[in-house]
Amino acid sequence: MDIAAEIARLKQEKEAVILAHYYVPPETQALADYVGDSFALARLARTLDCKTIVLCGVSFMAESAKMLNPDRTVLLPEPSADCPMAHMVRKADVDAVKERYDDLAVVCYINSTAEIKSWSDVCVTSSNAVKVVRELPQQNILFIPDMHLGHYVSLQVPEKNFILNRGYCPIHHKMIPAEVEALEIAHPDAVVIAHPECTEEVLQEADYIGSTKQMIDYVAQSDAQEFIVLTVVGVQREMELATAGTGKRFYFPKTTPICVNMIKVTPEKVLACLRDGTGEVGMPDCVDAATTPLELMLELAAR
Ligand code: 13P
Ligand code: SF4
Repeated sequence: MDIAAEIARLKQEKEAVILAHYYVPPETQALADYVGDSFALARLARTLDCKTIVLCGVSFMAESAKMLNPDRTVLLPEPSADCPMAHMVRKADVDAVKERYDDLAVVCYINSTAEIKSWSDVCVTSSNAVKVVRELPQQNILFIPDMHLGHYVSLQVPEKNFILNRGYCPIHHKMIPAEVEALEIAHPDAVVIAHPECTEEVLQEADYIGSTKQMIDYVAQSDAQEFIVLTVVGVQREMELATAGTGKRFYFPKTTPICVNMIKVTPEKVLACLRDGTGEVGMPDCVDAATTPLELMLELAAR
């Protein structure tokens, strides 16, 4: 069976749109109507005029899409595709900080469950976190769940006081400076670009830090020919498309960074969920409290 043709037929029949993150397998990205970073996917999900959204990514992305577009059916092709970091904060810890500070904003990385969002004032993604935090009137910032993104933002916004949580992305957390240095020795002319989920030590090696989409835009406009890319290898497809014909080359750490959850979202699973309507994402009980910080992110990021 021609999977792509069958998906195209079902998309028409079900008035569906396929959104994909850059970390899903390249052959799944190739089927999508839109491929984007977390911010682009959230923004798009808000405005799509279709009956069904197929979200090729992890569960927090599908949950956010459902909350931002409640009238649409949202399907997650692989329901077990979850982001471990999305759970890495405890309510008791958030409450303890809330008690200590009057002038506090709880800033929640979008890589989080709806429940965690519901404890928060505003959401951020890696592409807008610095801007959104600067826009907030509060002086004290509790950043959850990602300690590395939180630390990176704290360096960009030194005028505010940050309290960091201890969550992390297992894939980015695992990258070590020695691996980056080995790549730099092998490719001395390469520019180092990194995702802010990497550790502080790894980010110190980077010439440019940005979200997946910002990294893709960076390699497209850069005069350099070679890039050491410190994020999940799934971005390579879009980097190659964005630089086609230029001969630009991309090098990833030796222990190739793959998101074991994103990689589960295969074309076969996209086809099955479209055909059978499986993987439907329900509306979380805390929808009102969890959508408010997402909406505020969209508003502050657009200023
Ligand atoms: P982006 O928003 O940069 O695409 O990042 C999402 C993510 O999960 C990174 O690990
Ligand atoms: Fe979560 Fe890391 Fe996978 Fe991103 S790469 S979805 S942060 S586990």
